[in-house]
Amino acid sequence: MDVFEAIEARRSIRAYRSDPVPNEKIRKVLEAGRQAPSAVNRQPWHFIVVQDRGNLEKLSHGRFAGFLREAPLVIVGCGDRKASERWYLIDVSIAMQQMVLAATAEGLGTCWVGSFDERKVMELLDIPERFTVVAMIAMGYPRNGIDLVSKLARSRRRKALEEITSSERFGTPLDL
Ligand SMILES: Cc1cc2nc3c(=O)[nH]c(=O)nc-3n(C[C@H](O)[C@H](O)[C@H](O)COP(=O)(O)O)c2cc1C
Repeated sequence: MDVFEAIEARRSIRAYRSDPVPNEKIRKVLEAGRQAPSAVNRQPWHFIVVQDRGNLEKLSHGRFAGFLREAPLVIVGCGDRKASERWYLIDVSIAMQQMVLAATAEGLGTCWVGSFDERKVMELLDIPERFTVVAMIAMGYPRNGIDLVSKLARSRRRKALEEITSSERFGTPLDL
């Protein structure tokens, strides 16, 4: 799967099979994050892989995070404010989206999760105070035989390119 195929195939998956994700795949996904660019190469990130059922249950209490209860794993992305106060949010986000695309290429479903109580997550996972919990990514094999490259995966509603782009100045239509 090349990068465009992974971008097209990716969609948010919220129902997973119970099979664990092999360590080799977890490592590949984390490696994709590790290779991400970051401002001044500060790499202001730390990623916590959560597979313990008790912890996953506790992470599942956010408003839109109930499905984490049945996810085989969650990666919690933490940003080090001391290392890069201005850019940690962007840097961690880039790394996490690289992980999402790598996971897709490995046949895994993912879903970004922003619904969590940061204090509770910090306490649960012993995260040091200089870190901010940026986001979480749920990951696992899609349930119900969802084929990541199926038509369904590609029928996502998005704003038209014309609506979100300009040429030279904001609002001047881009003619490509
Ligand atoms: C920063 C961020 C936070 C998100 N938080 C949640 C969440 O808490 N729960 C959830 O079910 N989906 C969450 N999503 C997934 C979005 O709902 C989803 O990406 C969007 O509806 C587009 O659908 P698609 O990913 O299938 O293309 C989040 C996505 C992003 C990028």
